[in-house]
Amino acid sequence: SRVAVIGGGQNCEHEVSLASAAAAAAALGPHRYDVVVLTIGVDGGWRDGSDRPIGLAAAVEVLRGCDVAMPLVHGPRGEDGTLSALLDLAGVPYVGSGLTAGAVAMDKWVTKLVAEAIGIATAPGVLLTAATAATYAWTHPVVVKPVSAGSSQGVARVDRPGQLATALAAALAVDHRVLVEDVVDGREVDLAVLARPDGTRIVAPALEVVVAGGVFDYATKYDGSAVFRVPAPLDEADRKALEHAALATYDALGCRGVARVDFFLTADGPVLNEVNTTPGFTSQSQVPRMFAAAGIAYPELLDTLISDALA
Ligand code: DAL
Ligand code: MG
Repeated sequence: SRVAVIGGGQNCEHEVSLASAAAAAAALGPHRYDVVVLTIGVDGGWRDGSDRPIGLAAAVEVLRGCDVAMPLVHGPRGEDGTLSALLDLAGVPYVGSGLTAGAVAMDKWVTKLVAEAIGIATAPGVLLTAATAATYAWTHPVVVKPVSAGSSQGVARVDRPGQLATALAAALAVDHRVLVEDVVDGREVDLAVLARPDGTRIVAPALEVVVAGGVFDYATKYDGSAVFRVPAPLDEADRKALEHAALATYDALGCRGVARVDFFLTADGPVLNEVNTTPGFTSQSQVPRMFAAAGIAYPELLDTLISDALA
């Protein structure tokens, strides 16, 4: 079948999305699928597989000529449901989550409200805007983050009151809503959930992110210094609690396809950090490595996603 792989995008994860799309396109074609590549520029303009600018209407026509689309645009104006909505309106089947799951997962505040409502712990936190930021009184170490962003853009830890104003300004530069959360003391453990065409789901072996210096920020996400331990060494109770929380979160948000659900594993159990409905997708990214540890190789993972989208 003909598959449109969409990469790029209008946010700071543009390059990461290009890498995810290039990896998927390489693994899909040319002998297995007829692959069509579409790229969204940082300026929002669409480009065809020869990197020629095409208008949105032309891009939609290309998509309509495909059997299925695989959107691999991380972050706002891609992963946040906007691309799903475009594909829904165009009538093109696509891999992965729809509008609601994408939008909710991209909003760390709403994700927190949903998780807490179903009994999944998250870091205690408050929501601030430019109008309310000045009312916040710092009393203990916190993490300041934009409500909607990816790859830790605009995120800063505030260990002293003097660091607060800079951190709030940096986060407010990325999004008009900012989350201030307590620092969670725990191991960083990611779970991946994959829906199969028969309606069952697979939870891949957990992955632990081990970062020298302890902070998994934009630099350590992509400079190769972070070490992934797959499967993460876990005792049975923690493994079960993480898998339960990952599936419950996936279902509560209404995710489809694959989602990576990121936790801190504390002495009191899993604390949800965030949900990625379009997780990094190079063969060295977390999700493909987690499924490889489950015996599902990268091409097979892509096949499952495509079959599920067409089911
Ligand atoms: N936001 C990046 C791409 C990830 O979650 O893998
Ligand atoms: Mg993310």
